[in-house]
Amino acid sequence: MENHKRETPLKPRRLLLFPIPLQGHITPMLQLANILHATGAFSSITIIHTRFNSPATAKHPHFTFLPIPDGLSETEAGTEDVIQLLTLINKNCTGPFRDCLAELLATAAEEEGVACLITDALWHFSQAVADGFGLPRIVLRTSSVASFVAFTAFPLLREKGLLPKQDSRLEEPVLELPPLKVKDLPTIITHNSEDLYNSLVAEMVKATKSSAGLIWNSFEDLEHSSLAKSRKEFPVPNFPIGPFHKYFPASSSSLLAHDTSSISWLDTQPPKSVIYVSFGSIAEMDEKEFEEMAWGLADSLQPFLWVVRPGLVRGSKWLEMLPIGFMEAIHGRGHIVKWAPQQEVLAHRATGGFWTHNGWNSTLESICEGVPMICMPYFGDQRVNGRYVTDVWRIGIGFEGGMERGMVARTIRRLMVEREGEEMRERIMWLKEKVDVCQKQGGSSHHYLDSLISYILSF
Ligand code: UDX
Repeated sequence: MENHKRETPLKPRRLLLFPIPLQGHITPMLQLANILHATGAFSSITIIHTRFNSPATAKHPHFTFLPIPDGLSETEAGTEDVIQLLTLINKNCTGPFRDCLAELLATAAEEEGVACLITDALWHFSQAVADGFGLPRIVLRTSSVASFVAFTAFPLLREKGLLPKQDSRLEEPVLELPPLKVKDLPTIITHNSEDLYNSLVAEMVKATKSSAGLIWNSFEDLEHSSLAKSRKEFPVPNFPIGPFHKYFPASSSSLLAHDTSSISWLDTQPPKSVIYVSFGSIAEMDEKEFEEMAWGLADSLQPFLWVVRPGLVRGSKWLEMLPIGFMEAIHGRGHIVKWAPQQEVLAHRATGGFWTHNGWNSTLESICEGVPMICMPYFGDQRVNGRYVTDVWRIGIGFEGGMERGMVARTIRRLMVEREGEEMRERIMWLKEKVDVCQKQGGSSHHYLDSLISYILSF
């Protein structure tokens, strides 16, 4: 970060940041806050946040945290329907956010000016609020560029009859978005919320087009062609400055406690032997899938570190649905935790593969540590990420055909012990080197971070 250090600004400038209260969104926003803070270009950073999933404020004493009411009832906050939740908080937070901003702008004017507002792309309502105050809003999009660009094609794909997806057309290529197939389009199956989803996507795209700029947790060498498309679709300055977590590898904004036994267990395993298994903070499965998965892990004969998040298996508290005889069958070859220090796990010498749901943070973290993947995307952007991992970067195997123990064991062995996996490991190591270069002086992310700071200071 030293290279980005600025002189203390002549005019004190405060930054306001507003993350979406979901793990995969809070993490990159706080990482961005840390990156901007370390440049020394801004006099202070204020994080406005909902009470729901409030970030761990004590871990970030250098920021000011301002909670706003989100109006969620206990049932609403506990919903598994992310789309309903996002729709509701966009509605409920409009008034409180406007009031909060009005007060901040009034008090800040006396001491220091507010340079700009940076919000998650999913806070679409915040564009109109920022416009009302004449405050520039820069968008942070926490997903891959490729998956966001896919959203812009939704109206056309609806006209062409490719959306909503029909079973008979799932394998058709989407000519506008190569190499995606219809099944990869970033949709979400929810109980009742298809219209809500379409409107959320449309509002997000519209508000991003009217923003003052777009920050990506990605980098040029990885997503060059998608970035070119993004610059056409969103004609505002685009700043691909990622991967964020490489600026501060040790920092954490995890909502759940990391089980450090993951690392002590990995210490006992041979190099590149362990398949790490984790499906992020939202994905779920049923009891039958869980059972097949468990037996497949056992039958693979590979050591495994398995994150079974409470709530991963519908209707269970934690491990009570593990099949009888499973622990005996694996003879200590596996370790199960509720939540792992994932970045450390991926960087560990014993980790040789990652069976992932391809959330963007997980995908990037895997690339940064040179760990090839088994891709089992669940919904939304994960499908696009998975397709890029298998078909464009060719650093992972797609998990096909549903959860069945034989398929699980075979896929793990293809990645961990066969030549195919070895070739993927070589390719991902090449990408890992690109990451190291892009953040050094002369690298693309380094350049874009400098331009982002200058851009914000020019407001
Ligand atoms: C969500 C969406 O599902 C994803 O598609 C979107 O790209 C971002 O928002 P999530 O499912 O949580 O995210 O996945 P991901 O983006 O991979 O983020 C998970 C984060 O939790 C990662 O930073 C990962 O390091 C961390 N994690 C995960 C842990 O620290 N420990 C774990 O055991 C598992």
